[in-house]
Amino acid sequence: VISEMVVPFDVAWVRRVRFGALAAVHLPAGIAPLAPELLARLAPEEATLALEERGRRQIEFAGGRLAARAAAELLGVGWGPLLKGEGERNPIAPAGLTASISHKTDLALALVAPEAEGLVGVDLEGDGRQRLAIASRVCRPEELASCAELPDAERWTEVMTRFAIKEALYKAAWPRVRHFFGFQAAHVELRPALRVTLELPPEDPRLEIEADLEWLSPVRLVAMVRVR
Ligand SMILES: CC(C)(COP(=O)(O)OP(=O)(O)OC[C@H]1O[C@@H](n2cnc3c(N)ncnc32)[C@H](O)[C@@H]1OP(=O)(O)O)[C@@H](O)C(=O)NCCC(=O)NCCS
Repeated sequence: VISEMVVPFDVAWVRRVRFGALAAVHLPAGIAPLAPELLARLAPEEATLALEERGRRQIEFAGGRLAARAAAELLGVGWGPLLKGEGERNPIAPAGLTASISHKTDLALALVAPEAEGLVGVDLEGDGRQRLAIASRVCRPEELASCAELPDAERWTEVMTRFAIKEALYKAAWPRVRHFFGFQAAHVELRPALRVTLELPPEDPRLEIEADLEWLSPVRLVAMVRVR
């Protein structure tokens, strides 16, 4: 077995997915501040935003920005700095594009797509640990009932899948909804087909939601959502 060389902040992979282009960047362990060479690989506006963050957040922020650039390159679209909302963390893509970011210990992911096709959200979950205690917070009663019918060994996977889809949905919907909504507002059907609906107050926009899943390993999942 030849093990893959892992260079911090290098692109691990980039590929076309149903809703656009998805890229992953390796993140280093630890909390060392970004080196000047790394800051120089970001757009100046991104470097300024990165320097407002500390520790892991600085590393994650930079990794997400580098991943977004790699995804845009694969799409073949002009790219600029990936900014963020004033006093918020939602990414603001260059005109005509939509972008979403998620990071975990060793990886930052970015999903980039043309905005004309809808707004996208991405979420990366799974580290091999089971956290069934969050099930009743994440799942609606009917989702819990559907989980309860499964063998014990499959339950966490189902809860994690719903969690990932709901987080990706929150990110995709945010620019349209612009207020917090909880996990119970979203309903995820996994069988017979993946179907996602969102119950928001009547004054909110009605969103058409599509979702897609990609497993990076048997325990690691990327959820991607597109709203229109
Ligand atoms: C915003 C939230 C989704 C971010 O998730 P997280 O666990 O911090 O971690 P992730 O690594 O997956 O995502 C982080 C990225 O989300 C993005 N993000 C943060 N706030 C966002 C928002 N309001 N809208 C869209 N994207 C947002 C940012 O790009 C951030 O990375 P960056 O700061 O490096 O750019 C989460 O903190 C949250 O508040 N969730 C809402 C809870 C909920 O009820 N969700 C389900 C509703 S159905």
